[in-house]
Amino acid sequence: MKKTIAILPGDGVGPEVISCAVEVLKKIGQKFNHQFEFLEGGIGHQAILKTGDPLPKKTLEVVEKSDAVLFGAIGDPYYDQNPQLKVRPEQGLLKLRKTLGLFANLRPIKVFPSLVDKSPLKKEVVEEVNFIVVRELIGGIYFGKKGIDANSAFDTATYNKEEILRVSRLAFKLASQRRKKITLVDKANVLETSRLWRKTVQELAKNYPDVSLEMMYVDNAAMQIIKKPKEFDVILTENMFGDILTDEASVIVGSIGLLPSASIGEKSALYEPIHGSYPKAAGKNIANPVGAILSAAMMLDFSFSLKKEAQAIEKAVEKAIGASVGTYDINKENPVSTMEFTKKVINFL
Ligand code: IPM
Ligand code: MG
Repeated sequence: MKKTIAILPGDGVGPEVISCAVEVLKKIGQKFNHQFEFLEGGIGHQAILKTGDPLPKKTLEVVEKSDAVLFGAIGDPYYDQNPQLKVRPEQGLLKLRKTLGLFANLRPIKVFPSLVDKSPLKKEVVEEVNFIVVRELIGGIYFGKKGIDANSAFDTATYNKEEILRVSRLAFKLASQRRKKITLVDKANVLETSRLWRKTVQELAKNYPDVSLEMMYVDNAAMQIIKKPKEFDVILTENMFGDILTDEASVIVGSIGLLPSASIGEKSALYEPIHGSYPKAAGKNIANPVGAILSAAMMLDFSFSLKKEAQAIEKAVEKAIGASVGTYDINKENPVSTMEFTKKVINFL
């Protein structure tokens, strides 16, 4: 198979972890006889420094020529120190999501058996946790009308039925291939948008009689995710609730550095580790590349239907972690570097 992959390393530890994912993809290419071509593009703070634009036109051209996008991380502390700046790195990612129509963000939360003691939660609570958050990604308060003057500011959350339906259909499809349970997380006791979500998803559920649908308020969900994470199979939710709950859920697994994600649209898809730019670790070769490597595996699975290859990556990562090989976040006693970990994974492959 021949595929072109856009590589957008971005800021902070992004370039380091993405180069690891690329090495792993190259190994898969050799082993399974595929040709992956990599085209690099700038995004975020790096791109602002070079061009003044967090999502330069050239990057969009690279993305348009590609079959899928592998993205690193975005953000820099400089912008929190200078809040008056109107151009921010994050705008690059948000605009890319919107431009590509990436309406569904899939974030699997799956515990590695050998890491159950890395979570601050009890072993009995976290072992065998395996759920996926389906987060709506290009609507809601992130993209509604907003404004600010000297004394006031506003952000609006809007959703229409079609925006809810397209991401929900994907969630039901996923649930029917899994344990057949969806939890819709909302704030329907307060928000009109949540009431529309409920009504729309309840109607849609009639087409999937074998999938059970449960409703949960987001404040309660924030508690249940930590208390009884095993109860969840597919969590379906709007943009901002999904953003918050997935950072929270990463605690179950032991480190946010372990988690991959896929952002899916009608025609394109983007894969990224869910951790941020982690500026303190940038350039030090200490960040955990697992999130990026598993994001590459999700790309092989979802965008190219290369299931065997995706599973080979997952197995190799599991073996490395199982052999107590890990970066500092999961192995404080005897950590390996970002590159060393990746070499281990490649050896197992
Ligand atoms: C994420 C991030 C982004 C978001 C930021 C960087 C804009 O937190 O992907 O979860 O809020 O969606
Ligand atoms: Mg986030």
